[in-house]
Amino acid sequence: MRGWMGKFRSLFLFGALTMLLTGCGIENISALKPKGYGSELLFDLMLISIAIMIFVFVIVMAIYAFVLLRYREKKGQEHIVPKQTEGNKALEVIWTVIPIILLLVLAIPTVQATFDLADQSTQGDEGVLTVDVTGNQYWWQFDYADQEISTSQEIYIPTNERVYLNMKASDVIHSFWVPAIAGKMDTIPGENINTMYLEAYEEGVYEGFCAELCGPSHSLMYFKVIAVSPDEFDQWVEDMQNIDPEATPETTTAQEGQELFNNNCMSCHAIGGASAGVGPNLGNFANREKIAGILQPSKDNLVDWIVHPDEIKPGNQMPAELVSEEDAAKIADYLLELDHSDVGNDLEMQSVEE
Ligand code: CUA
Repeated sequence: MRGWMGKFRSLFLFGALTMLLTGCGIENISALKPKGYGSELLFDLMLISIAIMIFVFVIVMAIYAFVLLRYREKKGQEHIVPKQTEGNKALEVIWTVIPIILLLVLAIPTVQATFDLADQSTQGDEGVLTVDVTGNQYWWQFDYADQEISTSQEIYIPTNERVYLNMKASDVIHSFWVPAIAGKMDTIPGENINTMYLEAYEEGVYEGFCAELCGPSHSLMYFKVIAVSPDEFDQWVEDMQNIDPEATPETTTAQEGQELFNNNCMSCHAIGGASAGVGPNLGNFANREKIAGILQPSKDNLVDWIVHPDEIKPGNQMPAELVSEEDAAKIADYLLELDHSDVGNDLEMQSVEE
């Protein structure tokens, strides 16, 4: 009975681990497949610590096995008490010095990496990009102050360049994490600005997460890092700067949608230009990989989101049923026309939600 239960238990554990770990190797999401400077540094640290752990484990297990086999109680020796020893100086020194060496081997690159990742020496230099990041329940705002543009949910960066992030939160503590490119950094409400930098080696769409429990929709607070070539990045900036919030949409329903949007949504949102403040800037909405960071970009999903944001992302600030389903459909037509840049559209990503 016990044996059967044991087998069942390990089967269950194996199944649970399989489910849990399937996300670990996904391209552009995984810290185990580093695609940027920060994540590569952290991955190397992981390898060093795993190597040290394996080294210690193998040695300890080898000694353990040797002692078990060598000093077993043998037939006819049941009453022999082995020679008792204590205070072996050589042994004491060995098992004190070896861990110290191992810790030093671990500590030196760790401290080096910590300083390296906190380095800001080139911030503010000519041609070096800085983006202001704000964490909100449950979306991310990205302000490019020098370029006078603002976007949300998807941060565009040029490849193979350091992009500095100045980070804060508007409400509660969030944590900005793009496992495949960089480490993790908390965003904190108030005056405190945390900093880090991104440097992506390859073009691509990288999944980002909020890594600090921040409310009921914490686990839905996804964002994307879209890394494109420096030339394409310049093109994107130009496209974003050229967004005209007053431009007349093509279809009649979209025109009606624009009016409805301006009357109902503009007190929180913005289209193009500087940051919106309360809600996301939707200037490049139709270029987004996802609606609200989680839904596939379709009109039906968008209408659902506009009417029932509370059901899709519980606890978020967007009012539910502000407009009727019919009006929401017109607003959706308008938003889906906000297609101002082709940059990054050719990039695909594997996603955790699919
Ligand atoms: Cu924001 Cu968790």
